[in-house]
Amino acid sequence: MPASYKILGPKDIDNPLDEKKSFALDILLSLSQTPKKLSSKYFYDTEGSKLFTAITELPEYYLTKCEFEILDKYKHELANLVSSNSFNLIELGPGDGKKTNLLLNCFIEKKFDFSYVPIDISESSMQTLIVSMQKSFPSINVNGIVSEYFDGIKWLQKTSHDKKNLILFMGSNIGNFSVIHARVFLRSLWNSLNNGDYILIGFDLKKDIDLMLEAYNDSKGITSQFNLNLLNRINKVLDGNFDLSKFRHFANYEAYSGAIESYLVSLTEQKVFLREIGQSFSFKAWEAIHTEYSYKYLESDIKHLADETGFIVEKQFFDSKHYFVDSLWRVNKVN
Ligand code: AVI
Repeated sequence: MPASYKILGPKDIDNPLDEKKSFALDILLSLSQTPKKLSSKYFYDTEGSKLFTAITELPEYYLTKCEFEILDKYKHELANLVSSNSFNLIELGPGDGKKTNLLLNCFIEKKFDFSYVPIDISESSMQTLIVSMQKSFPSINVNGIVSEYFDGIKWLQKTSHDKKNLILFMGSNIGNFSVIHARVFLRSLWNSLNNGDYILIGFDLKKDIDLMLEAYNDSKGITSQFNLNLLNRINKVLDGNFDLSKFRHFANYEAYSGAIESYLVSLTEQKVFLREIGQSFSFKAWEAIHTEYSYKYLESDIKHLADETGFIVEKQFFDSKHYFVDSLWRVNKVN
């Protein structure tokens, strides 16, 4: 079976700006506002994707280990719930695909007829994934899409067939959306899907605050490198002169919103010039750039979110410590 990927370009999506121009415009807007803010979607260049994989292997980053435990334990039960004659297995943000392999092996064992459609923003991650899929699962039809989730889904909507869909949105990727963004995203997903389709969403649950803080302040400093790499990316793409030693990573838990909030804090008063857009940006000493939300959920938040976006919670799969949940939702379009 073939394994390939497609990079969504201007003809496939509504946004006509090329990648570099839209990055430049976005960075210009993000660094011109007060308070300054950069989107976490820009973490995942080649270096950032490697650093994220390293984060998932850290002892403090419990999320990946919990989800691995869940998928390993409940893969058969999950497979029996979603089984259908033939279906598309669509994964939003598969990363290195290690957790997905558990499901793929199980689906193959059960002789399910399915195509695997990973959608990822990072081309380098997609290339690595496609090569490893071809090696480990030569019998599966793999059609990767390099795009943002929304564009990938819009594209699928245009090209989708009558097959059933199972969407995987694991790894607490939903946690990187604000509450409003999560709601809008899930409702758009609901719009693109058919009654009875499924989505499996990984939510990180609210828990001991120190445990959550450690996961984003690891002792090896990999999360700090991951966050600072955003400035490196801006330097590379926009010919900038950010001095990484003059910024520090800072991650805190905001108990009201229930999110770990990550920042890059300027250690001194400084000016940074981005040659590609011909503009300099001033930073005061201790001024912060917000870089990421990692929202944590209560079980009641999850049920409420499913309800208000048109899904029925079919089953909740927890790890043994109740740190994480993979929540299986069914699209409800009957009333
Ligand atoms: C990808 N995402 C779910 C991770 C998270 O936990 O928010 C990204 C990450 N940021 C810092 N560590 C990991």
